[in-house]
Amino acid sequence: MSDLPPQTAPAITAAAHDMLTTLRAYRTRFTTAADTYDGSTQHAADLEQVMADYSTYVTDERNQAPFAEISSARSAETESLVAELRTQSARCAAVMEKYRALRLLAGRSGSVGYFANVESCIEEEFGAVAPTRDSRLLLVGSGSFPMTLLHAAERTGVPTAGVDIDPEAVDLGRQVVQRLGSGLDISLENLAAEELAFTREATHIMISSTVEVKYQILERLHAVTRDDVVVAMRFGDGLKSLFNYPMREVDPDRWRLLDTIRRPDQVFDIALYAKPSAAQDGAGDD
Ligand SMILES: C[S@@+](CC[C@H](N)C(=O)[O-])C[C@H]1O[C@@H](n2cnc3c(N)ncnc32)[C@H](O)[C@@H]1O
Repeated sequence: MSDLPPQTAPAITAAAHDMLTTLRAYRTRFTTAADTYDGSTQHAADLEQVMADYSTYVTDERNQAPFAEISSARSAETESLVAELRTQSARCAAVMEKYRALRLLAGRSGSVGYFANVESCIEEEFGAVAPTRDSRLLLVGSGSFPMTLLHAAERTGVPTAGVDIDPEAVDLGRQVVQRLGSGLDISLENLAAEELAFTREATHIMISSTVEVKYQILERLHAVTRDDVVVAMRFGDGLKSLFNYPMREVDPDRWRLLDTIRRPDQVFDIALYAKPSAAQDGAGDD
């Protein structure tokens, strides 16, 4: 018999234990909600409810301490739970936009909590370097209901473009733009951002938070974009990383972090990047 004390799992607080139980239940709800999408809105209610609940959950500061606790334990089960929640909630965010588009196109509009949370204005996202009349705006991950582009084109009148990896999202997005934004300069394509001619002219680029490879896209955009381009990368760290892909280090020879715009009540925050030469020239100055 060994004299060593028996190995025990480190104790976690009741709040952290409850959080793990809650997060496992969200994983099941999200997976079921995304899997039941069939091109109609018949299963929309469950998905919309879980998205609304989760948006509240990841912006509730009372959940920050238990999340920090479960994260610092670095258990493989927790890490894979968080990764799956991010994947499944991103799928649901995409389906949520499909439901909104399908409703609009069927003559039944309506908005729910999640959209109120993600619909922020373009001036807020770019802070001191907001688009002006001569700008060109590109959105990577434009979705089925390209509300960011509709808002931006309407408010600023600038030419805008969106790309999305999902052909169904591009198709629905085009119909939504036709319905809501006729006369606005908005084009949508099922292409990689670096393949789009517009990308070379873009002065402002936004990258959706739920695009998993967003930092690889930022890396590739370096070679094909203007020297004075500004990129608004939506992200979520800490508790918000349950819903968003987090911020990452960037190659300092390619991109400089100009600013970080924190928005406690919104599901994602924004990291603003510029090329090093432009950043030195004062792209972030008032
Ligand atoms: C539904 S929108 C959600 C927008 C949300 N407001 C945000 O900031 O993440 C995200 C869109 O990104 C698209 N997407 C995911 N990965 C992508 C990629 N690698 N390239 C382009 N679009 C992508 C999805 O198809 C989806 O339509």
